[in-house]
This record gives sequence, structure tokens and C-alpha cells, in this order.
Amino acid sequence: MKILVSGSSGLVGTAVVDTLARDGHTVCRLKRPENGTRPDKQLAAAGGSRASDPTVRWDPVSGNFDAASADGVDAVVHLAGASIAQGRWNDARKRLLRSSRVDATRHLVSALSKLARPPQVIVAAAAIGYYGDRGDEELTEQSAPGTDFLAMLGRDWEAEAARAEQFGARTVMLRFGVVLSTRGGALPRMLPPFRMGVGGRLGSGKQWMSWLTLDEAVGLVRHALGNPQVRGPVNAVAPNPVRNEDFTRILGRVLHRPTIFPVPAAALRFLLGEMAEALLLSSQRVVPAKLKALGYSFLQPELEPALNALLRHAV
Ligand SMILES: NC(=O)c1ccc[n+]([C@@H]2O[C@H](COP(=O)([O-])OP(=O)(O)OC[C@H]3O[C@@H](n4cnc5c(N)ncnc54)[C@H](OP(=O)(O)O)[C@@H]3O)[C@@H](O)[C@H]2O)c1
Repeated sequence: MKILVSGSSGLVGTAVVDTLARDGHTVCRLKRPENGTRPDKQLAAAGGSRASDPTVRWDPVSGNFDAASADGVDAVVHLAGASIAQGRWNDARKRLLRSSRVDATRHLVSALSKLARPPQVIVAAAAIGYYGDRGDEELTEQSAPGTDFLAMLGRDWEAEAARAEQFGARTVMLRFGVVLSTRGGALPRMLPPFRMGVGGRLGSGKQWMSWLTLDEAVGLVRHALGNPQVRGPVNAVAPNPVRNEDFTRILGRVLHRPTIFPVPAAALRFLLGEMAEALLLSSQRVVPAKLKALGYSFLQPELEPALNALLRHAV
């Protein structure tokens, strides 16, 4: 297949591009203008795409899109979006988080709809932030969205992706949990205090964390691309979410370090503002109901073996 990938320089995108290319697909990266896309040399150094990879130019801000280069695209993997975990969430940052997802997805779907032969499949990133802060409630794809900033962003982001169904594309929104990898995302930020033996639960530690490994995330993109039964929102998480206090204990055990220094919620709120509430203290006990119903076989269903495999060479 000819597959177009947005956000290809990111944590998930880099791994997706490599895997799809190894699978024998023709992978084209959507390339943003100016400094929007990391220089190819840096990408190659990160093990990502190479300068020779075909690209399709697009501007997620204006919607400009090089339709001629996208000719014959069979599928799109849409992962683009400004980083949720970077920078304090002031009004400008929140506007960027929204526009780089909601507006960018609207522009991309509109551009794809105008191609002579639009793609048949779109696999778009989404996030479990869609559910908001939900305590111990088990959340399936049927559960209602939350009401906070990330939940409304998630709802509007998915709605723009779903518009691709109007031109007949099977559209899948992968609601990713916390993607665990030593190459980027949340885990490398957590590791330093844990390695120094000063790691601990965040706030009460009772909040649920729904996670998956990077390999699983890539596996789910492949599964969604290749399986016509997968459609609509899909909870992209391992089947065993854990409370933050259990995540903390297990990470400490894997690293052979004590985890006796809890981080008070007030300190996190002071340091990170609203982001602390949304990303570290809120609780999402997400169940991959659709994947289970489809008989998807998880690569890494349990946290401790998953962390052991990830950190085997990094301890
Ligand atoms: N990692 C997680 O734990 C996690 C959890 C839930 C949901 N997600 C979602 O899954 C998607 C992929 O995650 P990731 O971890 O790979 O993210 P990432 O490492 O932050 O990569 C996102 C990519 O989006 C592009 N991008 C950056 N700023 C942008 C902007 N202002 N406008 C448009 N595109 C921009 C960049 O790729 P190019 O330079 O190649 O354009 C960037 O590498 C994201 O949308 C993320 O929100 C991730």
C-alpha cells in the first residue's frame, strides 16, 4: 500500500514509519513547512525516516496540501499534534494544542476528500484524555466524554477525523493511553528521580493509569490499517491498567530502587498548573473493549514484564 503518515518525526510516527516500510509499504511522510519538521539528518540519527523517503508537503495551519504528490495514496496514518506535555498550558499553548489537532485534522480530511481517488483507510491518533477524570469507573468506547479541556479537545479532534467517513474512508481513531518507551514520551521523564531512589507516587496514587508500550501502539496502527472490522473510536491501551501507586511500586521494583517519596498533588499543581491535573492526577481506567471483542492478541498485556523488557538494557 502507499501510506501517508503525519507526525512522522514523533515518538509513535518514527516507529510506525520504520515498521510500515519494513512491512513493504511505500511510506510518504507529510512534511510541515519551515522548521516544522525536524531536519532529515536529525531524523535519521534518531533512527527515523531517511532523507530519501518520499514526502508530501502540507501546512496544518493554512491547509495547503500538495495533492499531486499524494496521488494514489491508499491509507493515511495521522499522528500530528503539538506536544501535550511540553510548556505550561497558558491560553496560547492551549490554542496551539487545539489548532494543531482539531484545525489540522479538518484541513487534512478536506484535502484528502478532494483527491481524485481518496484513501480507503484513515487511522488517526486520539487520546484517553477524551474521558476526563473518572475515578474508578471502567471506561469503554461507549463511555461518555469528560468535560475538561483535554476531553473537549479529544472530542472535537475525533469528530474532525470521523468526517473522512463521508468520502467512504474507513476511519479509526486510536485513543492512546500513556505510550511507554525509553525513546520519548512519559517514561524517560519519570526515570531520573526513580533511578536516584527518590521516586514516589503522585498525589494520592489512587488514580488509574492506562498505558501501552510503543511496540503495542505500532502493532495497533498495523492492526487498524489491515483489519476491515476495526472502525471508529478504539481504546488503544493494554488490558491491565494500574493505579499510580502500583505503577510506582512496579517501576521501583524493576529498577531495584525504593519508592518512598510521594509527590504531593499541591506541589505538582504549583509546578505544572492545569497540566498536572490533566496528565498526572486525573484517573482513567480504560478497557480496550473493542480490541478484546475483535480477539486482538496483545503483545504486552502486563505492566511488569513490559517495563522489564523496556528497561532491561537501560537500568
Ligand atoms: N505518546 C503518548 O503517550 C500519547 C498518548 C495519547 C495520545 N497521543 C497522541 O498520539 C499522537 C502521536 O504521539 P507522539 O507521542 O508520537 O507525539 P510526538 O512525539 O509529540 O509527535 C507528534 C508529531 O506531531 C508533529 N507536530 C508537532 N508540532 C505540531 C504542530 N504544531 N502542528 C502539527 N503537527 C505538529 C511533529 O511531527 P512532524 O514534524 O513530522 O510534522 C511531531 O513529531 C499525538 O497526536 C499525541 O497527542 C500520544
